[in-house]
Amino acid sequence: MLLFQIFPCPWFLISFLVPCYGSLQPGFSKLQRGYRLDRKLIQSFTEVSFLDCVIECLVTPRCKSVNYYKGANFCEINYENKTTAETRYMESAGWVYSEKEHWPKELAGACSNSTCEINQTCKHKRYSEDKFFECVLSDCGIPDQKGINLSSIKREDAIGLHRRIHASCADGYSQSGSGRLNCQSNGEWKYNIVCEGEYATMICEEVNYSCFSFE
Ligand SMILES: *[C@@H]1O[C@H](CO)[C@@H](O)[C@H](O)[C@H]1NC(C)=O
Ligand SMILES: *[C@@H]1O[C@H](CO)[C@@H](O)[C@H](O)[C@H]1NC(C)=O
Ligand SMILES: *[C@@H]1O[C@H](CO)[C@@H](O)[C@H](O)[C@H]1NC(C)=O
Ligand SMILES: *[C@@H]1O[C@H](CO)[C@@H](O)[C@H](O)[C@H]1NC(C)=O
Ligand SMILES: *[C@@H]1O[C@H](CO)[C@@H](O)[C@H](O)[C@H]1NC(C)=O
Repeated sequence: MLLFQIFPCPWFLISFLVPCYGSLQPGFSKLQRGYRLDRKLIQSFTEVSFLDCVIECLVTPRCKSVNYYKGANFCEINYENKTTAETRYMESAGWVYSEKEHWPKELAGACSNSTCEINQTCKHKRYSEDKFFECVLSDCGIPDQKGINLSSIKREDAIGLHRRIHASCADGYSQSGSGRLNCQSNGEWKYNIVCEGEYATMICEEVNYSCFSFE
């Protein structure tokens, strides 16, 4: 199989003297071929190797698992795993699924020590003297506006910066707005949805939430 071919040892592994092939063996042996976790996407990446995909997950605190499509070197990092999102774990030809926990932390190099927040991702800084990584904003988090129902989320939806998701209002709420939520570059959602209901209205008044300021 393609994935079992020898991978070059990334530069930061060499520098930490981690025995590459030995420590990666458990991760490879637990790969789930022909499976994918659906609709729990943080971000996706094109033209990356499988190991880079795993590393992307290791440097992103919110990430729990990855889906990888070998044919297109396409990587998806997920904010849940198959245990926490059982119903979204499904057969999907050509994909492999892998969990973050099955890989050694050291694969993340300097970022294995990072103190990045849940909505950030750690980036390596190769040439800086004092600090070898930095934390940059990665996503808008899971939308938690009252009355919102995320069951209408589509396959390509993601919570990463500049991505969007489709939402609707929960049963008993009436919806206005397109239902599209855009993750802005400042890490905050632009909610093009208002869910109104008895309960929702009450909450709005209570906290003086700017319920009606959406476009
Ligand atoms: C899945 O995610 C949960 C919650 O983050 C975690 O406790 C668990 O160890 C993960 N992996 C498995 C295999 O359950
Ligand atoms: C992580 O931090 C500890 C203590 O600050 C240090 O000893 C260790 O070398 C660091 N590891 C990496 C990979 O930077
Ligand atoms: C969310 O939407 C789904 C499908 O549209 C529906 O079956 C479910 O009952 C809704 N959940 C809530 C809490 O409104
Ligand atoms: C990112 O997460 C931190 C800690 O959870 C929080 O204080 C901060 O407001 C978040 N940033 C954005 C842009 O949401
Ligand atoms: C609610 O917010 C508006 C605008 O932000 C403000 O003008 C108004 O005084 C606030 N009302 C209360 C009761 O806090």
